[in-house]
Amino acid sequence: MCGIVGYIGPQPAAPILLKGLEKLEYRGYDSAGIAVRDLERLSVIKTVGRLQDLRARLEEQGVPQGSLGIGHTRWATHGRPSDINAHPHSDCSGRIAVVHNGIIENYKELREWLVEEGHTFKSETDTETIAHLIERFYEGDLVDAVRKTIKRLEGSFALGVLHFDQPQEIVAARQHSPLVVGLGDGENFLASDIPAVLEHTKKVYIIDDGEVVRLTSDQAEIFDFAGRPVRKEIFEVAWDPVLAEKGGYPHFMLKEIYEQPQAVRDTLQGRLNGGRVVLPDLTLDLAYLRGLRKIFITAAGTAYHAGIVGKYVIEKLARIPVEVDLSSEFRYRNPMLGPDCLTIVISQSGETADTLASLREAKRLGSKVLAITNVVGSSVTRETPEVIYTLAGPEIAVASTKAYTTQLIALYLFALYLAQERQTLSEQQLAEYIAALEQLPQAISATLSCEEAVVGLAQEFKDKEDIFFIGRGLDYAVAMEGSLKLKEISYIHAEAYAAGELKHGTLALIVEGVPVFALITQESLRDKMISNIKEVKARGATVIGVANEGDRFAEEACDQVIFIPRTNEILTPVLAVAPLQLFAYHAALARGCDVDKPRNLAKSVTVE
Ligand code: M6R
Repeated sequence: MCGIVGYIGPQPAAPILLKGLEKLEYRGYDSAGIAVRDLERLSVIKTVGRLQDLRARLEEQGVPQGSLGIGHTRWATHGRPSDINAHPHSDCSGRIAVVHNGIIENYKELREWLVEEGHTFKSETDTETIAHLIERFYEGDLVDAVRKTIKRLEGSFALGVLHFDQPQEIVAARQHSPLVVGLGDGENFLASDIPAVLEHTKKVYIIDDGEVVRLTSDQAEIFDFAGRPVRKEIFEVAWDPVLAEKGGYPHFMLKEIYEQPQAVRDTLQGRLNGGRVVLPDLTLDLAYLRGLRKIFITAAGTAYHAGIVGKYVIEKLARIPVEVDLSSEFRYRNPMLGPDCLTIVISQSGETADTLASLREAKRLGSKVLAITNVVGSSVTRETPEVIYTLAGPEIAVASTKAYTTQLIALYLFALYLAQERQTLSEQQLAEYIAALEQLPQAISATLSCEEAVVGLAQEFKDKEDIFFIGRGLDYAVAMEGSLKLKEISYIHAEAYAAGELKHGTLALIVEGVPVFALITQESLRDKMISNIKEVKARGATVIGVANEGDRFAEEACDQVIFIPRTNEILTPVLAVAPLQLFAYHAALARGCDVDKPRNLAKSVTVE
């Protein structure tokens, strides 16, 4: 996710902006830039790469001397990481500079309109549209021009705007993307996140959705989008700088678990419209989609577990056979692929060596490839034109959480898209799935309220040597992810088992006091699961169920149950995984493990 900073006051702006951006580096970024107004011009200096590259560029070109400026670190969503696509973006006259976090869904239409009106675009970004819109509406009052611009925007944004003709102000606005104002003494600050201003002040205004700010060196005037003044309480930040980086959470993993509702919302944004799934970036034509013989999914680790959910869902909704392979196996097993197949590669980083090699192997064998990834411009996106981006924002903890849930969302969207184009679902069925998808962010938030109960379980089981996860159907896929999460960060031996397979081997390991997490979210398989729960309970296991709200059979069968809100049966993995992520987190914490950086593991595995 991108970072925004802004400064207005008596000091040179550039060093303050760079320091602020440094504090946001932990969020991940692929390019950076600043815009500073001095007496003669509005200088925009930006570059692909790290802040050190931006510093080098500033040294080359000369550091602008003004004391009014905005800065940005970009995590690409529209357009690859490049100098041109980096923020700030300017209008045709070069008198306006804009930094933006979020996504403008209708930017293509706006861009077309602006081009017809004679505007010239330099970048591929949605953000540049905003700069040209402000130019279009500016008549001497920047707040007014920003308000008129915002009325035209669909999507999410946090904005910082400068105009050369307005040397005494920065204008900012927020809709579904965080923004704060830091209040100094004779100087003021703007930022997307509190850590960027903490060095200067602990007094902030948290800007809410639907608000516009006129920031001068001694005032922060806040209005709603209709122009009415808004009164705000000052928020005194009590966090130390380290805690602030993590948004007040003790670890990135916990922060990322709690970011899942927003990440899912962002991944759905702009892809559901009028009861249909729209994936405008895909170029796969109808004849090809209708003639598809088989789909192969290949991925590693958590992404592989998402792929298993994808198999169930695509087969159910679009009636196409799907094989799922670990990338490290797929690349060497000589799979039977051809032009009537589609290979889906899933990779958060887009850089995993085995997944990349699988992509190449699939292409060599004549298959088209669709990549599901979180990183714009990553290697997988350079090797296939068909990409569905997950919009999870940077994931910093080694243990994948929000990347997994957004991969599931991308797979649901693609499965529904296939079903829609192949007409394997009625309009009404499609509409029901879409409505259920739209409810998911709220349902995840509700699920996360189980944390307190999970803390108790983590304390109870933290010294166990083995913990088992069982489930059937989609629940088995979630069990695998729960087990991986636990072992990778807590180092407790964990194993996932298809519940029906227990008696073919693993039951021998179930003895008095062994904890078993039983996933019971698949209504159609519930009775079978209850029988399996009885099998393990009869051997002395302590069974923790994860079940649909109000399932009294589950409640009777288990020692304890964590309930998730009821949703469509195919969507339960998005909810059921949350208590397992939280359990892994708290078990690791209770055992004193380094939660965000588990031993022997790296975030991105770029070697075989
Ligand atoms: O970047 P990728 O999605 O390709 O990474 C694949 C795996 O290395 C990754 O999912 C790994 O299993 C996670 N750290 C598990 O939490």
